[in-house]
Amino acid sequence: DDTRALWTKPSGGEPAGEDEKAVEEYFRSRANWQLALQGVLNSLTSREMITYKVQDEISFVPSGEGRSIAKLGSQEARLWSALPADSEQGKSADDLKTALGADTLKIGQGKAFAKKWVRKHPSQPNFLARVPGVDAITDETANDLKQVQEKGTLSDNAKITELRKRKLIIQRKLVYFSIAKGPKFSLKVEKLETDLTVEMLQSGSWKSAAFKQYNFNAEGAPPTSGALHPLLKVREEFRNIFFEMGFTEMPTNRFVESEFWCFDSLFVPQQHAARDVQDTFFVKDPPRAKAIPEDYLARVAEVHEKGGYGSTGYRYPFSRQVTERLVLRTHTTAVSSAMLYAIAQQPGGFKPAKLFSIDRVFRNEAVDATHLAEFHQVEGVVADYNITLGDLIGFMQIFFSKMGVTDLRFKPAYNPYTEPSLEIFSYHKGLKKWVEIGNSGMFRPEMLRPMGLPEGVNVLGWGLSLERPTMIRYGINNIRELVGHKVSIEGVERAAAVRFP
Ligand code: PHE
Repeated sequence: DDTRALWTKPSGGEPAGEDEKAVEEYFRSRANWQLALQGVLNSLTSREMITYKVQDEISFVPSGEGRSIAKLGSQEARLWSALPADSEQGKSADDLKTALGADTLKIGQGKAFAKKWVRKHPSQPNFLARVPGVDAITDETANDLKQVQEKGTLSDNAKITELRKRKLIIQRKLVYFSIAKGPKFSLKVEKLETDLTVEMLQSGSWKSAAFKQYNFNAEGAPPTSGALHPLLKVREEFRNIFFEMGFTEMPTNRFVESEFWCFDSLFVPQQHAARDVQDTFFVKDPPRAKAIPEDYLARVAEVHEKGGYGSTGYRYPFSRQVTERLVLRTHTTAVSSAMLYAIAQQPGGFKPAKLFSIDRVFRNEAVDATHLAEFHQVEGVVADYNITLGDLIGFMQIFFSKMGVTDLRFKPAYNPYTEPSLEIFSYHKGLKKWVEIGNSGMFRPEMLRPMGLPEGVNVLGWGLSLERPTMIRYGINNIRELVGHKVSIEGVERAAAVRFP
């Protein structure tokens, strides 16, 4: 009556072997029933009412075809028997077909030829005859099947394998439970207490109560806990790469930036298309930035208007109002710029620096399967004396190889703040094409010199998105499955940690 015994013992005996499906079904449902029965036995064992041991026994029964061979002989033996004893005589294939049936003749012929019991008649076309000298045959297959029928198995394992392959026998597994009375044997199942309660202590009923045993082997319910989002898991891997390469993390907790840090300090002209409402989110309130370092602002305005440091500048009137406007930062290069400026100002003068950041940026873009209006940028800058384009390329090769990405290609590109600028491509084996994986460049003197960085100091920088490698890592095709309200929390909880490469 145990509710766990969802499977009832199949009624009636084992079906006859002719109906192979029924035999299979019988054993399947019996296996399920055995499982359910074992559950009940385990439960009784935990109450110490019984002890039990499991034994199983593998045996075989002939299948429908196997039974008919056991009864009538194998096809090859039937063919041999159907032929005249005189090996010179033989019988026509048509006659044999009528006598044995087409299937038996076909299978029997192949096997009897192989066993050299039967041959093609030497002179009469389409006649089969016995092989001369073969006056008696032993029908091993039929004998074996008879033995399986009687004993449930054969001593020769190779023969068992062969008969199973030919689907002449079916394996069956019988499970036996030998059950003995346990120390607390009883014919009634007592309700077991799971808790020791105040009432039991007060009334004294605890003395006679039966307690359920702890199951120390039970798997506990997974505790509810937080889980890192896949983006954060991949970010962790990037951080480790940067730390391993001696980088320091930049503080990026400023989603709102002035146009000064986001664009002007980077020598992006105030008329540049990136500053359009189409591309950038502007902040209405507060209306403008609190403070911008005045002397530095003056040098930035000067380089935009008139140039300097070997540049002619853009030759337009620099607007103070524009520079003070607030935007949601469109790239983390706004942070890099502020940091490079800070480095130039540090007491004791400039010291070489390797900095990185991984954080959110915002762009007023049309949202589709791979783009949202916000994403994460992974960005690094290296500032030192005499850095060259060769350093940039070599550096990218080392950086990306740590993610398992080798064979890079570089393509000239344009950023207002870098010259030269290089787009970085890698060969995507899945897509079978070169895909862009990052943007980089050598920062312009028009950007670095007004900051106060000494002559001879060059800075290389690069950026890439965190979303793209994350989507590739987790096999996600739609960004909405990674970010936003459609994300599966369960998927986040189960997402495996990421290890590069
Ligand atoms: N800011 C660039 C971008 O958004 C990345 C970049 C960073 C390029 C540093 C060059 C130098 O794509």
